Amino acid sequence: MYRTNTNGELRLADVGRDVTLAGWVQRTRRMGGMTFLDLRDRYGITQVVFDNSTDPALTEAANHLGREFVVQVKGKVAERSAKNANLPTGDIEIIASELKVLNPSEVPPFTIEDDTDGGDDIRMKYRYLDIRRGAVRRNLELRHKMALEVRRYLDAQGFLEIETPMLVGSTPEGARDFVVPSRMNQGQFYALPQSPQTLKQLLMVAGIDRYFQIVKCFRDEDLRADRQPEFTQIDCEMSFIEQDDIINTFEGMAKHLFKEIRGIELTEPFLRMTWADAMRLYGSDKPDMRFGMTFVELDDVLKGSGFSVFDNAAYIGGINAKGAAHYTRKQLDALTEFVKRPQIGAKGLVYARVGEDGTVKSSVDKFYSQETLQALRKKMDAEPGDLILIMSGDDAMRTRKQLCELRLEMGSQLGLRDKNKFACLWVVDFPMFEWSDEEQRLMAMHHPFTHPKDEDIPMLDTDPAAVRADAYDMVINGVEVGGGSIRIHDSALQAKMFEILGFTPEKAQEQFGFLMNAFKFGAPPHGGLAYGLDRWVSLFAGLDSIRDCIAFPKNNSGRDVMLDAPAALDQKQLDELSLAIVEENK
Ligand code: AMO
Repeated sequence: MYRTNTNGELRLADVGRDVTLAGWVQRTRRMGGMTFLDLRDRYGITQVVFDNSTDPALTEAANHLGREFVVQVKGKVAERSAKNANLPTGDIEIIASELKVLNPSEVPPFTIEDDTDGGDDIRMKYRYLDIRRGAVRRNLELRHKMALEVRRYLDAQGFLEIETPMLVGSTPEGARDFVVPSRMNQGQFYALPQSPQTLKQLLMVAGIDRYFQIVKCFRDEDLRADRQPEFTQIDCEMSFIEQDDIINTFEGMAKHLFKEIRGIELTEPFLRMTWADAMRLYGSDKPDMRFGMTFVELDDVLKGSGFSVFDNAAYIGGINAKGAAHYTRKQLDALTEFVKRPQIGAKGLVYARVGEDGTVKSSVDKFYSQETLQALRKKMDAEPGDLILIMSGDDAMRTRKQLCELRLEMGSQLGLRDKNKFACLWVVDFPMFEWSDEEQRLMAMHHPFTHPKDEDIPMLDTDPAAVRADAYDMVINGVEVGGGSIRIHDSALQAKMFEILGFTPEKAQEQFGFLMNAFKFGAPPHGGLAYGLDRWVSLFAGLDSIRDCIAFPKNNSGRDVMLDAPAALDQKQLDELSLAIVEENK
């Protein structure tokens, strides 16, 4: 062993002990005849002192240490005269008697401190140096602890962790697959699983009534702060259950994690909201419930006064930003620019301030009498000092989504999105299908194995677009941290579902025959859910991106800049796989 004690564990009680430490040079400082070395390891930083008056040669050696050198130090623990309350080991220091350089280091490309000077790109290229920083390492520690707690909770509930294959068949629906060519089966491809969805259902048919797996999933989709091409699910499935059983089991797991990881005891049942209400009141299927500012429909108040934008709109909705009447013209113009950004795509924004005397002044005053504006104020439940923001559009759903962006922005600007406050919500009763303009057909909103709500089954023949699903998402602070559904376990209903999704019986058999056939052999009623582990960790760590809790993440173009992947293949490898790269003629 290179060391007898880990740095971060030494305390006053250790004073007088002879210790051997090993780690990295955070920095050295020379003061008077002394040299101070901050020695860092996984557990923290310990100060080591070299005294020129007692050992000039040793001190000279310490003076030659560079940042990130790997060193071993022997010495005695002493009480520190100038204590450092910011360090766990701040009460003590080590009076060095021996120093050994185990490995020198080049100067690192950025400072390895919590507040580093390194930009994203350089830190990703040298991720192994980035992970030396406490800020990153702590996220990995949290991730480990959360995975342990998940296993502890699910094991206690009788769940069995079972691994499923990573090389599976490509399936349509959902996101794009990452595919892997097969050398032994030339011209054929595996796909990496987007989730173990069908496999866990087969495990239910196999009689494993409580399955889970902490599992990598792969999706070739556009990346965002909360999306990575490979990410980790806490994937679960149960047999002989109804929706409430699943919700209770996984709400229990959420509460367990809050308690064990964040020390927060959540005693109340989580709120449940239908998808239709979530869209109506928040314009989102993952509303951030840390604050109100719910949408109010204003058609009846604002239509018919000659303001053509509103008169011709399919939807007019407002939010009440409480206490924000002090917003200046400049701030309001900036909000208008915000909603007009291409990502949001709104045409504009109307505002109305409620003055201290209760009068309402709006940006469209010339079209509306004070009487109408007072009706608006009443409808918006606005008090003196409030700011009403209104958006309209010719597509109700699109306008709601735009208003949702504005609501979130106002929530941020008004400090209503505290990272240490958590608002948990189940969104239930999702629509079964959504129309795809690209595909010109109905697509499964969750996935094609989702069970419709029993009372809506007759509508599968008459009005499939109106059918609701036995599907649910868990949303925390506006982040979808998990989702699942009750599954179809009847092969005839499953076949019908594929028919609505536009599969011929032959195509459905070809793609999903393995599942439909299995359902002929006594499939139990079943359902499940998958939580996104990366999202849970980043929520608990207060991160802005899930990248920060993944040891080796991909960048926004899906690249691993450290490994320089993806990359071209050697001709020899291509030949073995019978693959040829065709240059596209532009
Ligand atoms: P779904 O597609 O909703 O459901 O995924 C479940 C959860 O996984 C997380 N997640 C992601 N996290 C990071 N990056 C991504 N690209 C990404 N995509 C999804 C989210 C999401 O809620 N098989 C079903 C689950 C089921 O029905 O049991 C499924 O995969 O937190």
